[in-house]
Amino acid sequence: MKSSIFVAMKTVYTCRELGSVLGCGEGVGFVPTMGALHAGHLSLVRRAREECQIVAVSVFVNPTQFNDPEDLRRYPRTPEADLELLSAAGADIVFMPSVDEIYPESDTRVFDFGMLDKVMEGATRPGHFNGVAQVVSRLFNLVQPERAYFGEKDFQQIAIIRQMVHQLDMPVRIISVPIVREEDGLAMSSRNALLSPAARKSAPLIYRALTEGVAYAETHAPAEVEQFVIDMIDANPELKVIYFNLVDSQTLQPVSSWDGSVRGCVAVQAGNVRLIDNVSYDH
Ligand code: PAJ
Repeated sequence: MKSSIFVAMKTVYTCRELGSVLGCGEGVGFVPTMGALHAGHLSLVRRAREECQIVAVSVFVNPTQFNDPEDLRRYPRTPEADLELLSAAGADIVFMPSVDEIYPESDTRVFDFGMLDKVMEGATRPGHFNGVAQVVSRLFNLVQPERAYFGEKDFQQIAIIRQMVHQLDMPVRIISVPIVREEDGLAMSSRNALLSPAARKSAPLIYRALTEGVAYAETHAPAEVEQFVIDMIDANPELKVIYFNLVDSQTLQPVSSWDGSVRGCVAVQAGNVRLIDNVSYDH
């Protein structure tokens, strides 16, 4: 059974092959990834499968979004396992290009995201979102999807992509999909595989602190909640908060009251692995 599905899925490595298998591209749902796939990625593929005629997935570790060369070098790569998982999840087309295929010349475009990338991941990983926009705009041009699926795990990334699509006037609908978690609450991430046993054991505290922060928010102001969450995570010697911000869900700017839609976004250093997570603080 599985092998017959596997035959149906097409794996392509060049832009030219991609163009020929996409045909007229009608009803294409697209899921861009960097591989080392887990249930979080697969939830995007399944959602696309439910909503689109053709499901295309890209697996490409994009060098331009890594501000730390060491992070790029040790980023997990599991192409064979990825193909099996994508086949089982019902993908039609998998695009696995080389770096030269995507960047025959270096991409010198500089995007302006206004205030959206001046906070959180944008502030602590210089150039990261510019690289994300470079690759996603190229992939959108190649795949020409009607819909593209992104996980709320990377909450700020979704805002950046929406802004990019608006600026470039691209006819693609951006669909956001909820975070998939391990049983102990840790947000699934390809980087979780790099955690030391001690850091992996401590990491569920991140989500626990975020949710306890939600309860604390019923009787406390945003600044107090921020301190509460940071202190709770930092109490564990394996973890160090890089930032925890309560931000407006649309503008991503810090809030000083609970009016409007609020998201609590955190980045934590766990040994040499950087983890991010977020929850809704809407009440
Ligand atoms: P990557 O980290 O591989 O993630 C690919 C997509 O899967 C993103 O939209 C991400 O938000 C989503 N995702 C990851 N973990 C998830 C989880 N636990 N639950 C739900 N969704 C999850 O994000 C990127 O790659 C890159 O920046 C990319 C957009 C592919 C551009 O290179």
